[in-house]
Amino acid sequence: MDKPKVVLGVSGGIAAYKACELLRQLTESGHDVRVVPTDSSLHFVGAATWSALSGNPVSAEVWDAVHEVPHVRIGQAADLVVVAPATADMLAKAAHGLADDLLTNTLLTARCPVVFAPAMHTEMWEHPATQENVATLRRRGAVVIEPAVGRLTGADTGKGRLPDPDEIFEVCRRVLARGAAEPDLAGRHVVISAGGTREPLDPVRYLGNRSSGKQGYALARTAVARGARVTLVEANTGLPDPAGADVVRAGTATQLREAVLKAAADADVVVMAAAVADFRPATYASGKIKKKDGQEPAPVELVRNPDILAELATERRGRPGQVVVGFAAETDDVLANGRDKLRRKGCDLLVVNEVGERKTFGSEENEAVVLDADGGETPVPYGPKEALADTVWDLVTRRLG
Ligand code: CTP
Repeated sequence: MDKPKVVLGVSGGIAAYKACELLRQLTESGHDVRVVPTDSSLHFVGAATWSALSGNPVSAEVWDAVHEVPHVRIGQAADLVVVAPATADMLAKAAHGLADDLLTNTLLTARCPVVFAPAMHTEMWEHPATQENVATLRRRGAVVIEPAVGRLTGADTGKGRLPDPDEIFEVCRRVLARGAAEPDLAGRHVVISAGGTREPLDPVRYLGNRSSGKQGYALARTAVARGARVTLVEANTGLPDPAGADVVRAGTATQLREAVLKAAADADVVVMAAAVADFRPATYASGKIKKKDGQEPAPVELVRNPDILAELATERRGRPGQVVVGFAAETDDVLANGRDKLRRKGCDLLVVNEVGERKTFGSEENEAVVLDADGGETPVPYGPKEALADTVWDLVTRRLG
């Protein structure tokens, strides 16, 4: 079988060096990659590097090898175009259909999915001109990954950093797998909670749970590949930030509640994949709790945490069209308990996991039934958490209309 053809566009930002790593990942996972740099990006990484790493000829010009009509052929033949880094200038050109070099010509002739991974200073990213160009590109079906927050070129930090190449690769892999399917979450803001909350007893101890956060992260990654703006509220996962998601950190149920409710205010979808502690210690000892010779430990008094999912379902009444999704882990009478929980919580969809031997916390696989408030039941066979995530998004997009 022919290798999938990927065009890696590189525009003139310092993050161009990170695209070498992305190129490596693409070639090593069996893609035929044609690198198309802009002239200015060659100040950062030279053509010889791209040519050696890709095994393909490299040019920024439409005037090289004219007999092969490269300005048309490269785009036409591509299965995916990814531009990383995409500068403010490149986004502007793409949004306006300018075509003054090989990469911009390629963008006009490509009919395959296109992914932009912008990288620039925060001011440039936030400028209304850039934001409007991004909105235009998204409206036309491109996947524009939100930049990461962190260290920028100089000593400054902020939003505008190119996400890790591994994570951009993950987006490319998923977009390629979707083939010609439209990014059906484009223009949607989705909020996902992931991980497990920890309720502190003292500065060194907490009550926690074994949730790994992997299912929530799979939901975030698949939503980015389907074009959504993603806010990921994570609790104690230690997992790398998915490219394109705004990651908010929360430690306890109280912090998670605050972060989720804030992000939910303008969300189209909220998915509560986090394992939220139902109880927290009634008191927090500011110093380490010490054992005392000859004394039994004092019992730990617990108080209830608020039910965030139920609260979201109630608040949603003020937000017409918002879809609320919950998760439930059950051991017995899975479907009956799931139906009952769906009703009690008042959410639209409930993903019910049967907790069993193979389905341990932290695994890469999952098996579930997605219950719909309208009575529907969608079984998802044992498989990658990503497959379950895509089924959830299929059901959500149906509800969003
Ligand atoms: N959840 C929540 N806030 C809580 C507890 C749970 O938002 N304080 C959410 C979880 O994120 C999950 C769903 O509720 O989406 C189901 O949680 P689960 O613990 O299974 O439900 P409970 O109501 O606690 O039922 P059970 O009696 O089975 O523990």
